[in-house]
Amino acid sequence: MTDQITGTLVFTVFTAVLGSFQFGYDIGVINAPQQVIITHYRHVLDVPPDYRKVSNNYAVDSTEEMPRTPPLMSSTPTLWPEEESLEIPGLVTMLWSLSVSSFAVGGMIASFFGGWLGDRLGRIKAMLIANILSLAGALLMGFSKLGPSHILIISGRGISGLYCGLISGLVPMYIGEIAPTTLRGAIGALHQLAIVTGILVSQIIGLDFILGSHELWHILLGMSSVPAVLQSVLLFFCPESPRYLYIKLDEENKAKKSLKRLRGGADVTKDIAEMRKEREEATSEQKVSIIQLFTNSSYRQPVLVSLMLHMAQQFSGINGIFYYSTSIFQTAGLSQPVYATIGVGAINTVFTALSVFLVEKAGRRSLFLIGMSGMFVCAIFMSVGLVLLNKFAWMSYMSMVAIFLFVSFFEIGPGPIPWFMVAEFFSQGPRPAALAVAAFCNWTCNFVVALCFPYMADFCGPYVFCLFAGVVLAFTLFTFFKVPETKGKSFEEIAAAFRKKGGSARAPKAATEMKFLGAAETA
Ligand code: GLC
Repeated sequence: MTDQITGTLVFTVFTAVLGSFQFGYDIGVINAPQQVIITHYRHVLDVPPDYRKVSNNYAVDSTEEMPRTPPLMSSTPTLWPEEESLEIPGLVTMLWSLSVSSFAVGGMIASFFGGWLGDRLGRIKAMLIANILSLAGALLMGFSKLGPSHILIISGRGISGLYCGLISGLVPMYIGEIAPTTLRGAIGALHQLAIVTGILVSQIIGLDFILGSHELWHILLGMSSVPAVLQSVLLFFCPESPRYLYIKLDEENKAKKSLKRLRGGADVTKDIAEMRKEREEATSEQKVSIIQLFTNSSYRQPVLVSLMLHMAQQFSGINGIFYYSTSIFQTAGLSQPVYATIGVGAINTVFTALSVFLVEKAGRRSLFLIGMSGMFVCAIFMSVGLVLLNKFAWMSYMSMVAIFLFVSFFEIGPGPIPWFMVAEFFSQGPRPAALAVAAFCNWTCNFVVALCFPYMADFCGPYVFCLFAGVVLAFTLFTFFKVPETKGKSFEEIAAAFRKKGGSARAPKAATEMKFLGAAETA
């Protein structure tokens, strides 16, 4: 209801999603200045400039004398050269892969602890503490020119990843908990919207005439400290989650006070009644540990489907695009690859905004299937475009359009859906464990793609996207046969659907009445 959107609610959600924004910033920031930073690594490692023709795929070897980007339809793209690999540039590739992927390692580790920290300290304090990590990571990268840059960047990215792993649990939990019931879906989706906005902003300020230059790239990497500082200051003015106060701490009066601030002094008895019901549900069900989640056969099918959805999201290769698109566009022969990268960021943002509306109208399963099928077709076109690049000039544009559409299809379904669909598969008892495992799986796959993408590109050449197409097709078929629709269904109906598809899911006591409250209610 519109009258529930108060100034405090807007301010609080804005403050919280500054964390999601940083997450997106850290994903996108490494993309545009890749060549500039690699050149710097080469200086630091003292690699002579004539190591130019190397099997270094994305680590396109730009020395200052070389043009930053090849002309349109450059006949020898630097991405998949024939020349033999040389030892030192191989090291540069490895260091660059690590600079990209250490972020996901941090995310992987921390994704297990977001919910735990939020329960231990409260949501606000947990976000404040997390910001220390964000600041530490940003400072290491911001001052990386003063020391061994590659080491400082790899460790700085790892620490920023720790922050993002925490935030990927904390932010959806907090904003879901403070949102009025009627706005929970839309407010929850602002997390993904802030992520993609962060990606877009990092791509824009990563332009070489802004901060992506030889002189300023370290500032670009350190800039994530700005939202971290801003968020830390603003968090002092945000109310603690009423659900945390009431359900976890049993502090009814404090919860009421916080609710009154969020709802603008309106009557909060309905909210309190809803929380009371939630508390009863939570106490009537035993908490399930991660080990029980895997050993109890009744969870087998929903756990398998949850993991597959997250694997599908990451192994679709989406972050291959977000981490490396500038190089991909360069290989596709575009003369201004960074602008195409920004185009990807912009389209990504538009389609994420669109999915906020679509997801409540069309079913989750159908949107996921449409998204994956579209990505499959686009991946084939991407490969065809790259393979035929040397024969037809216009192929570079086809590759570009295919990448744009690939990203659009991703945001229609496979992007946002796994993050909240897993919460819909499980009741209060097993839900926290299931979400932790799902987030860990997501970050692990993210890490694998970040680390392996340059090597896969080296190995498969322009056919690398055919590989992703095959993977996407396999996951599409899996979804078709194994994933039930959850939209508008009670938990009991979903459990029955799982049993029909070959497994079972334990129904909670108040199954028919149960509403799926998403990650937010797991705490
Ligand atoms: C999802 C993915 C994340 C990806 C982003 C792109 O949030 O989990 O890995 O970078 O979408 O929009």
